[in-house]
Amino acid sequence: MKIFTDTTELVEHLRVLATTESVEAPGFLEIEHGLQCAALLKASHPDDLELQVAGLIHDLAHPWDGPGQPRHATMGADAVRGLLGERVASLIEGHVPAKRYLVSTRSDYRALLSADSIMTLDAQGGELSADEIRDFEAQPHWRAMVDLRIADDGAKDPNARVPGLDHWVDTIHALGRKS
Ligand SMILES: [Fe+2]
Repeated sequence: MKIFTDTTELVEHLRVLATTESVEAPGFLEIEHGLQCAALLKASHPDDLELQVAGLIHDLAHPWDGPGQPRHATMGADAVRGLLGERVASLIEGHVPAKRYLVSTRSDYRALLSADSIMTLDAQGGELSADEIRDFEAQPHWRAMVDLRIADDGAKDPNARVPGLDHWVDTIHALGRKS
């Protein structure tokens, strides 16, 4: 894995993801999945640039993790914490616990997950206990984590047409300057 020290390095990594097949949406490139996720969050949260960029890069560590992707959320958060700040990092880190939270609290949610997301759920810890649900809801950004997760699960549409990576580059650099 890697810790990014400037946003140019991060953008270069995203360009590599534009040539990498997605591990969670077969037939997709990693970056297509991220771009769709970011576009969904831009539509639902037009003023929250941190959430949009977190959606774009939430799976940036997929190439670094192993089968079941148990650590990619933590590795992705660690890679950008110093660069984009604690909130973006915690939103990235939260997208796996948010899946476990949604499966545990919404009976219809499991049906929305892709086959791959269901397969990785066990490797990522399965359903949350009652105590873990309380702990999840005690985190400051838990609602945004859930919003990112719902966009994540919706970002697997082979026919979606969304803005490309160039659309996001200035925003990534701006967030890097702010943090
Ligand atoms: Fe994802």
